[in-house]
Amino acid sequence: MTNKGLSSIKREWWKEAVVYQIYPRSFQDSNNDGIGDLGGIIQRLDYIKSLGVDVVWLNPIFSSPNDDNGYDISDYRQIMSDFGKMHDFDELLQGLHERGIKLVLDLVANHSSDEHEWFKQSRSSRNNPCRDYYHWWPAEKGQPPHRFSIFDVHSDAWMYDEASNAYYLHYFSRKQPDLNWENPKLRKEIYEMMHFWLKKGVDGFRMDVISFISKDTDFPELPFSHEQEFLQHYAKGPKLHEYLQEMNREVLSHYDILTVAEGAGVKREDVLNFVDEDRGELQMLYHFEGTDLKNLPWENQQPNPRYDLREFKRIYSEWDEIFSSKGWGTIYLGNHDQPRMVSRWGNDAPEFRFLSSKMLTTFLLSMRATPFYYAGDEIAMSNIRFSNIDDYNDIATLNKYRKLEEEGGDEYTYLEEMKEFSRDNGRTPIQWDSSVNAGFTNGKPWLKVNPDHLEVNAEVQENDESSSLNYFRRMIQLRKDHKAMVYGKYTLLDKLNPAVYTYTRESEEEALLVLLNFSQKEAGFSLPFEFGDGILLINNYNDDLKTGALRPYEARIIQLKTNPLS
Ligand code: GLC
Ligand code: CA
Repeated sequence: MTNKGLSSIKREWWKEAVVYQIYPRSFQDSNNDGIGDLGGIIQRLDYIKSLGVDVVWLNPIFSSPNDDNGYDISDYRQIMSDFGKMHDFDELLQGLHERGIKLVLDLVANHSSDEHEWFKQSRSSRNNPCRDYYHWWPAEKGQPPHRFSIFDVHSDAWMYDEASNAYYLHYFSRKQPDLNWENPKLRKEIYEMMHFWLKKGVDGFRMDVISFISKDTDFPELPFSHEQEFLQHYAKGPKLHEYLQEMNREVLSHYDILTVAEGAGVKREDVLNFVDEDRGELQMLYHFEGTDLKNLPWENQQPNPRYDLREFKRIYSEWDEIFSSKGWGTIYLGNHDQPRMVSRWGNDAPEFRFLSSKMLTTFLLSMRATPFYYAGDEIAMSNIRFSNIDDYNDIATLNKYRKLEEEGGDEYTYLEEMKEFSRDNGRTPIQWDSSVNAGFTNGKPWLKVNPDHLEVNAEVQENDESSSLNYFRRMIQLRKDHKAMVYGKYTLLDKLNPAVYTYTRESEEEALLVLLNFSQKEAGFSLPFEFGDGILLINNYNDDLKTGALRPYEARIIQLKTNPLS
């Protein structure tokens, strides 16, 4: 067998890791105030360990008035009061480390809360030493050039502030003013804060909208159309890479840690500028191209998938290709900003829910990229689909609704759309068991628990060998046992098949064939070779059928006897 892959890529623990993302507010409540907390995660440490994951990424756990659930930080060195105290954090970190699991924190450095001491100082007067920690536009210069804000009710990123007769910039909500990275003092504060957590022993950072930190501070006029593609405009700041290299020199390079950028607006042609190891910036970045894939028009959706699988395959294959000689990729299908994986990319109808969820898990854990797996997906949690706006909590969902109300838009259509896309679908409390509130809390949960927890919960699945939960565990073990699933060369086969995603993963040791039916119908596939005598390593139908067409949402991984492609 020829050697394609393994030897050219440098082995690293963070390439072999499976990352498990926990949204702390929804994981487990330990004091019955209805809000998940660090004590709750501590109670579930043995569960986390039992999954076989290597790294936990926590969404922000720092002091925050929670305008955007912790993405508006008022003190970067304190624990959010809802979540506990520093001693809880220390206990959690220790508990994870004792179990051989690493901890990655969320670094929110593009903006702070307006309740951060820096901002209170900054807005107090134009002469305040913290004035330049943020972006201000003096009112005597007139209206600032329009900038789109994603969470603002009026989509306006400039907010007038009377105290100093000036506007401040906020790409996100009014309570999330953007930090001014031009200011070396601010950058130093951020780096020191990072050292503070790293010295405590944390194992890395997921960097929130890090692609936005550099701005052209002349704020040239942008075409109004920038509203449609603001991510790309905001991701191309002039000094972005200078700052990331400085951060690497000052902080990251001093530790053996995992770093991953949220790649808002970052395109294929830009990604190596972040993750090419010779540039000394970051290790990984997660892109939005996959999760941004649009649904097909209704008449073309039958049978599932609702999106064009050929496009889906093209996107993931092209992203794989970029990292064939440099850098390293990530893969995910769900997170706290997305609907539930099974609802969005699989099929959550009762007869297909577990099959399609396992099929997607097979995909995530058999690609050449570090998987970021979102807590709750292992038990196939699905969208809650609120029909009442009052049930929602997410600032993005609420503010857009308010905007429609003010402007007289179509609220009904919007609510229908939110059933599929609101971020709250991915934020409902974890379904531990079939008791009231799913074992998440004995209080009133901050966001409603999905009523389907009576059937869909971790406890039932724990005792069922064939459950999604146990399938996830088996897939993780398989990835650990077969390094070809991590490092092996990826080759897409049967490219134009609209229902089946087929690929091989080859290393010096072995060749694996992955067959995934993304549709609710039986589907055939065609291969350039015979594989009848291969060994079936895993199958989501609990039998050993390895020839013939794939049943609805069937997933198989087959170890080939000989490498047919070399
Ligand atoms: C990122 C986070 C999202 C947050 C936003 C602003 O996209 O993932 O949850 O609302 O940044 O911080
Ligand atoms: Ca609590």
